[in-house]
Amino acid sequence: MTDGSSPAEVYRLIRERLREGGVENFETEAIIISEELYGRDFRTKLITGGFGESRDGRIKEALEIVRRRLSSEPLQYIIGSWEFYGMEFSVGRGVLIPRQDTETLIDCCIELLGESKGIEAIDLCSGTGCIPIVLEKRLNLKKIYAAELYDEAYSYLQKNIRESLSGVVPVKLDVMDEGSPRLFSGLQLITCNPPYLDGEDIRGLQAELRHEPRSALYGGEDGLDYYRGICRLWTASLAPGGWLVFEIGCSQAEAVAGIMSRAGLSEIGVKKDLSGKDRVVYGKR
Ligand SMILES: C[S@@+](CC[C@H](N)C(=O)[O-])C[C@H]1O[C@@H](n2cnc3c(N)ncnc32)[C@H](O)[C@@H]1O
Repeated sequence: MTDGSSPAEVYRLIRERLREGGVENFETEAIIISEELYGRDFRTKLITGGFGESRDGRIKEALEIVRRRLSSEPLQYIIGSWEFYGMEFSVGRGVLIPRQDTETLIDCCIELLGESKGIEAIDLCSGTGCIPIVLEKRLNLKKIYAAELYDEAYSYLQKNIRESLSGVVPVKLDVMDEGSPRLFSGLQLITCNPPYLDGEDIRGLQAELRHEPRSALYGGEDGLDYYRGICRLWTASLAPGGWLVFEIGCSQAEAVAGIMSRAGLSEIGVKKDLSGKDRVVYGKR
């Protein structure tokens, strides 16, 4: 049973609809959607005529994807997965989509601990689990925990651990609860990309970001609630010489460095992302 249109025709239709609908990266997104519909080798087949006489363009599915995309739903939620540091992660409603900026945090951990062996670590506010799952592959870890509070995000964390055959240990807990850090001691590394948007950011949020959970974005009126809470509660869970590594909003470096310093951390440093913006602050117990 075919619907009469070829994959190439449907691809062009998707591209036009996205362009008319004002999607900024309409070309790239049309390719990604077509790869979803016709396979990862879509681009090669398009160029080489590899679809032959196929008239099974799956036009209904394509138009449904376009409809969702034009209602500002993030493309990543529609296709259900996204790449981070060379690995695929399942994503969908209720979990933050991994961002390229967060790869800076991974690079930073490799720089700080790349030579160390038998590390015990925890990633706080794990979402998809992209940070601990990648760290497990890149560092010599003995054990790494991943802490997440919210049900939907926690399901994605479990799913991604399963799908990547990872040994990361998921824990469902509130990182801002006084009792949570007492379960962990002697850690060489704590990583965290917490919610860090401030009240003004949240009120001016663009349509696409409104599809992502507020619980993953809002860091209190000044955006710094989690940095204060985590430094106060979790520093004692680090071994002497252990590192606390935070992702930050690009204007928060000075404030977060101050919070870390007041919590007794030393050797505090800032690392920039690929676009030259402050993105990570780290410090040593
Ligand atoms: C900015 S997202 C980061 C997700 C992921 N680490 C990443 O980099 O893509 C923050 C995450 O913290 C979780 N979260 C928010 N408050 C929390 C809390 N009190 N305890 C545990 N997790 C929390 C949210 O559900 C969300 O998954």
